[in-house]
Amino acid sequence: MASQSPVVARPVVASPTKLASVATPASASTATATTAATTFDLGGGESLPVPADMAPLFSPYRLGGRFQLSNRIVYAPLTRMRATGTIPQPSAATYYAQRAVPGTLMISEGTNITSDALGYMNSPGLYLPEQLEAWKPVVKAVKDKGAVFFCQLWHTGRASHPDFQTGGRPPLSSSTRRITSPEYTVYTANGPQPYPAPRAATHEEIKQAVADYARAAKNAVEVAGFDGVEIHGANGYLIDQFIKDSINDRTDEYGGPIENRARFALEVVEAVCEAVGADRVGLRLSPFTGFLDALDSTPYATHTYLAEKLNAFGLAYLHMVEPRIVGIVESGNHADSLEPFRRAYQGTFIAAGGYKADSGAAAVASGHADLVAYGRWYLANPDFHKRALLHAPLNKYDRDTFYSSGMEGYLDYPTLEQLQQRQAAAAAAQN
Ligand SMILES: Cc1cc2nc3c(=O)[nH]c(=O)nc-3n(C[C@H](O)[C@H](O)[C@H](O)COP(=O)(O)O)c2cc1C
Repeated sequence: MASQSPVVARPVVASPTKLASVATPASASTATATTAATTFDLGGGESLPVPADMAPLFSPYRLGGRFQLSNRIVYAPLTRMRATGTIPQPSAATYYAQRAVPGTLMISEGTNITSDALGYMNSPGLYLPEQLEAWKPVVKAVKDKGAVFFCQLWHTGRASHPDFQTGGRPPLSSSTRRITSPEYTVYTANGPQPYPAPRAATHEEIKQAVADYARAAKNAVEVAGFDGVEIHGANGYLIDQFIKDSINDRTDEYGGPIENRARFALEVVEAVCEAVGADRVGLRLSPFTGFLDALDSTPYATHTYLAEKLNAFGLAYLHMVEPRIVGIVESGNHADSLEPFRRAYQGTFIAAGGYKADSGAAAVASGHADLVAYGRWYLANPDFHKRALLHAPLNKYDRDTFYSSGMEGYLDYPTLEQLQQRQAAAAAAQN
């Protein structure tokens, strides 16, 4: 069983993967789609015909004016806790390269922007020279395969513990409200602990945190070699702790009305854009998830405001998690929809959560999203693109190894070819 769970703490609530209600294509979108290719280049000299139903998912896409993608599949950010301390390991290069396909956007696991940002053991960092050195071969392995690699910038805020903090102080948040739901615990070297009461950030600490995001972005792009960064504003972590009014009870200009609760997120976006250029910056938000007790009383109003404000920056993309997802499990209110945000946001829109190839293709075809991020199924199927093209069955994902420390469930999910070889070897052994 996984010893730590950054985004999972509940059993799966069985629910069919279903397409969220669809929007008309964003007419104001700056993104341009071109016609679908008839064959798709999987890399390594292999290409396959694109079946008609998969054509939307395998159509090229210009991302933010800078990156030419060959398809609409995105590798979702997935924490795997295989770093040693905060140093990414060579196994990460193998893991990401196994899943890298030319012209595919991949987003890294959440990566800590400072030591105080950390809330999960063995999650990597972006603030020490040795971390950046260790990222270089990982990034190179992905880029050598022709994929586009963004690093997810992570500050866990109150989802941390004094054991991880400088001087053992309480972790940073928008307020002193702690995570109280009993299903959420923080794992330290002393085992599982209840989440502590955080400290409400002072104005200096807010300024510092904004600067920390910008510095981490520069480190990611200029030192480690990532193509861009995704600011993690989702799933109940620091930025979400400012956005959501179930957490943020401030009475200054960072709390209260939506404009104030959005201020920190927008300051981070601005600083990160200044640091690396807006066309290398994405933002992830989860309007509806209650993960880590992060709920908002007016998710539509709050996130529409944000989406509209983001139009001014010319970001690479806005990435949103479907309402059916709470952290990493399907649950929640299926009546809600990302549609209003898709309409309010004029740039590239990525939807994530509960998608398989067919529902992702339908989401692109209908204009619900420009790109679709895949988490669990792509994690468990390094040749996800190929399986989609062949309508091949998928390996099941193993929840127990999502966050475990070994290579099992990390490097050993088989490709179709490996499965066939195993079957052939088993058949030969029987004869
Ligand atoms: C093992 C695991 C780790 C995850 N880590 C992150 C993370 O670091 N950052 C993030 O924004 N979301 C994270 N998520 C959420 C996924 O990006 C995604 O939103 C979620 O799995 C739903 O998509 P899916 O149905 O395609 O799996 C994680 C999910 C899983 C399964």
